[in-house]
Order: sequence, then structure tokens, then C-alpha cells
Amino acid sequence: MTRVGIIGTGMLGNAVGIHLLDSGFELTAYNRTKSKTTELVKKGAKIVDFPKYVAKSSDVVFTIVKNADAVKDVSFRNNGIVEGKHDGLVVADMSTINPVESKIIAKKFSEHGITMLDTPVMGGPNVAIDGRLVMMASGDKTMFEKYRKVFETIANQVFFLGESSTAHSVKLAMNIQIALLSLAISEGITLARGANVDPEIFLKILNSTYFKTGMSENKAYKMIKDSFEPTFTLSNLKKDLDTINEAARAFGVNLPISTKANEIFQKAVDAGFGDLDYTGILAFLQKINGLK
Ligand SMILES: NC(=O)c1ccc[n+]([C@@H]2O[C@H](COP(=O)([O-])OP(=O)(O)OC[C@H]3O[C@@H](n4cnc5c(N)ncnc54)[C@H](OP(=O)(O)O)[C@@H]3O)[C@@H](O)[C@H]2O)c1
Repeated sequence: MTRVGIIGTGMLGNAVGIHLLDSGFELTAYNRTKSKTTELVKKGAKIVDFPKYVAKSSDVVFTIVKNADAVKDVSFRNNGIVEGKHDGLVVADMSTINPVESKIIAKKFSEHGITMLDTPVMGGPNVAIDGRLVMMASGDKTMFEKYRKVFETIANQVFFLGESSTAHSVKLAMNIQIALLSLAISEGITLARGANVDPEIFLKILNSTYFKTGMSENKAYKMIKDSFEPTFTLSNLKKDLDTINEAARAFGVNLPISTKANEIFQKAVDAGFGDLDYTGILAFLQKINGLK
């Protein structure tokens, strides 16, 4: 059976790891803050002190860290993945990063004889825990096929998209939807509340129309109860909006609404809302409108 490694056991990495262990895979994991590995230890994961030891013990290593700088840190710094390289090692990056950066990182890995695949996902820890993520993959097709079973354990839908970095471009296009939908629902709730209309009525009618979404049918009901327990933090979505806007500049395209969304999310982070779930953008809108 394929030996799997995870570097980065934050909210997403922890849930992916638990599901891999539940599915019978042998798992070695590393996290910069060791206390975030206790659940995985209980489930039987081997926890090591450096990324290089994850690489040594694994056929496929997933990096599931904050951003491109963090991927570079765990890959190329002292005690990083490249120091644990062996024949056939594949690194699969599940972090949400700029496709321009991912190409640079893949090239650096190839100079060390290591294949890097892009494997970003849609869906949070709540669906990762039982393998219901949606994965976008790109890079070396032969290596992707070799480890397809691992990817299909993590995600119930896997889309192979072609050459290196393509999956990250599509993932950023996905996260535009997350940011703008959370803002659209939050502004709808805020307008309803401003008009003294129960936001549940707003949601009930929205969900009777063509314009309903998974967010309006699920998380929105938590939002109107001011329940913002994070599955994906507002500050990480703000990080993705930075990345979306950087990638747009690199590709020479203009995304006016993503630019505006970035300004709003920046203000929410500055006002102290960064550790909430990303849907906590509603709490920020309520605050600046004096509604709560
Ligand atoms: N949560 C989701 O729903 C979701 C969905 C799709 C994609 N993603 C993406 O997946 C990645 C992880 O997200 P998450 O929700 O799990 O975030 P998180 O809970 O904030 O975890 C971030 C992880 O990155 C690590 N990290 C950050 N900087 C690092 C560095 N310089 N060196 C080593 N490790 C570093 C953290 O280590 P420490 O614990 O030591 O800080 C932690 O393990 C992000 O790129 C995110 O955009 C998340």
C-alpha cells in the first residue's frame, strides 16, 4: 500500500490525515506546531520532527500549508523535504497558492529529481473527514495515475487538468466564487436586517429560486445565528484574495469585483475578524452598519 505523508496538519491537513488513516493508509505527518498532531497520533499516525523525515517514510507527501512561502519553507529550507528525497518520491501540493509560484516550486523540485503534482481541493475539513473533497490535479500524468487511488480516497471527484500549475489557476477561479458568494449572502442578510425583515425569510425565498447555492442552503443558517466557528478562516480567504489578484495581474486580466472584495476582507482582518470562519464577513458588515 502507498505510504502517505502530510506536512501541515492545520484544519484541512488534520481532516485529510484522519480520513487516510481510517481508509487503512500508513501515515507519517509533520506540523510546525506539534500540538496540532494529537488527533492523528491517537489514530495511529507516525509524527516526526522535520519534513525530511516525512519524505523519507513516504511515497507521496502532501503539503497542506498556508501559502507558497510556507510550501518553500517545508520543501527547501534546512531539514526540508528535499533532504529526505528518495527514488520515486512525489510531492502533491494541496495548499492554495499562486500558479506562478507553483511552477517555480515544481521546477526547483525537479532539479532535485522530485516530481511535484498540484492537488488543490474544494471543500473543507467537514467533507475531507469522509473523503468528499473535490480535487483539481495537474503535473506529471504518469505519476498522477500511479497514485490515483490515494487521490480518489481523499476526494470523491478528481479532475486531472494537464500541465503543471493549471490546477492552481482553476482553484483560484473557484475561490473567487467562495469570496463573492459569502459577500453576496452577507449583504442580502444585512439589507434584510436594515429593513427589519427576518433574514430567515430572505433565505427561505432565496432558496426557492434558481439563485440558491450550497452556501445559502447550509452555512447561511449558521450565519444568521452569528455562528462563525471556522472550517476555513476569514484570514485564509483574504490570503487567497491576495493570491487571486496577484495571479490576475500576472495573467494580464482585470477582476474588478475580486479587487473590491480584497479591500473589504482586508478591512475585516484589520478589525479583528480574521480568526472567524470566512462567512464571518457578515459579522464585519453588521459591525460597520451598527446592526449588532
Ligand atoms: N480549510 C479549508 O476549508 C481549505 C479548503 C481548501 C484549501 N485550503 C487551503 O489549505 C491550506 C491549509 O488550510 P487550513 O484551513 O488547514 O489552514 P490552517 O488551519 O490555518 O493551517 C495552516 C497550516 O500551515 C502551516 N504553516 C503556515 N506557515 C508555515 C510555515 N512557514 N512553515 C510550516 N508550516 C506553516 C501551519 O502550521 P502551524 O500549525 O505551525 O501554524 C498549519 O499547519 C491553505 O493553503 C488553505 O488555503 C483550506
